[in-house]
Amino acid sequence: LVASFGDRSLAGLKVLVSAGPTYEDIDPVRFIGNRSSGRMGFAVAEAAAQAGAEVTLVAGPVSLTTPAGVAQRVDVRSAAQMHAAVLAAAQADIYIGAAAVGDYRPLEVSAQKLKKHDGGELTLRLGENPDILASLSAQTAHPFLVGFAAETHDVASYAQGKLRHKGLDMIAANQVGGGLGFEAADNALTLYWADGTVELPRTSKAELARRLIAHVAERYRATRG
Ligand code: CTP
Ligand code: CA
Repeated sequence: LVASFGDRSLAGLKVLVSAGPTYEDIDPVRFIGNRSSGRMGFAVAEAAAQAGAEVTLVAGPVSLTTPAGVAQRVDVRSAAQMHAAVLAAAQADIYIGAAAVGDYRPLEVSAQKLKKHDGGELTLRLGENPDILASLSAQTAHPFLVGFAAETHDVASYAQGKLRHKGLDMIAANQVGGGLGFEAADNALTLYWADGTVELPRTSKAELARRLIAHVAERYRATRG
């Protein structure tokens, strides 16, 4: 399967992409976040637009300009805000969850800056955030669902487990570390779906995104017409 310029494989389809980290506030000056730069998700949004889709991009806190051709961008901060923004735009044909959604949030958010107390420990109570992909998959009519899985170890088994447990149509897995993944210009992905897999070897995130989109389009047409 070759992705090339002039690929219009997603023409006429609405594609929703989430990208970037989420920030879970502790107080007005501190948050719990993760190391996503948003670059892979933004590249996916750009590639989907190049392939002819009408793209909505839900972005966590990133310092990236909106890719050419993206029809709509919604900026959010927390996982709860991302969840709401994705649900509001979920009448799409395809949802690609490239965001690194914070799994937990502080249960109490202080309105004032927390002050340091000498020599002690600080305990934060965290509550689990809703799973955006799983909540879409639980709806009777839902978009074709594509997840990402960034793993440090046992990549294939964790990714295939997430594909099944979250009820996804496809998952894009990558090994984090070794100059790949977060904050790197290059990435490599392995795609899994119910009865297939393909390796997308190390290349730029832009090229990788185009190849991913070509496979998403192919699987979408094969399963949803
Ligand atoms: N995801 C989501 N909502 C969450 C957490 C994750 O939609 N609250 C999505 C991510 O956008 C990604 C996929 O689920 O597409 C896998 O995310 P990941 O963090 O790898 O999986 P988790 O199920 O959170 O498991 P863990 O972090 O323990 O590996
Ligand atoms: Ca997670």
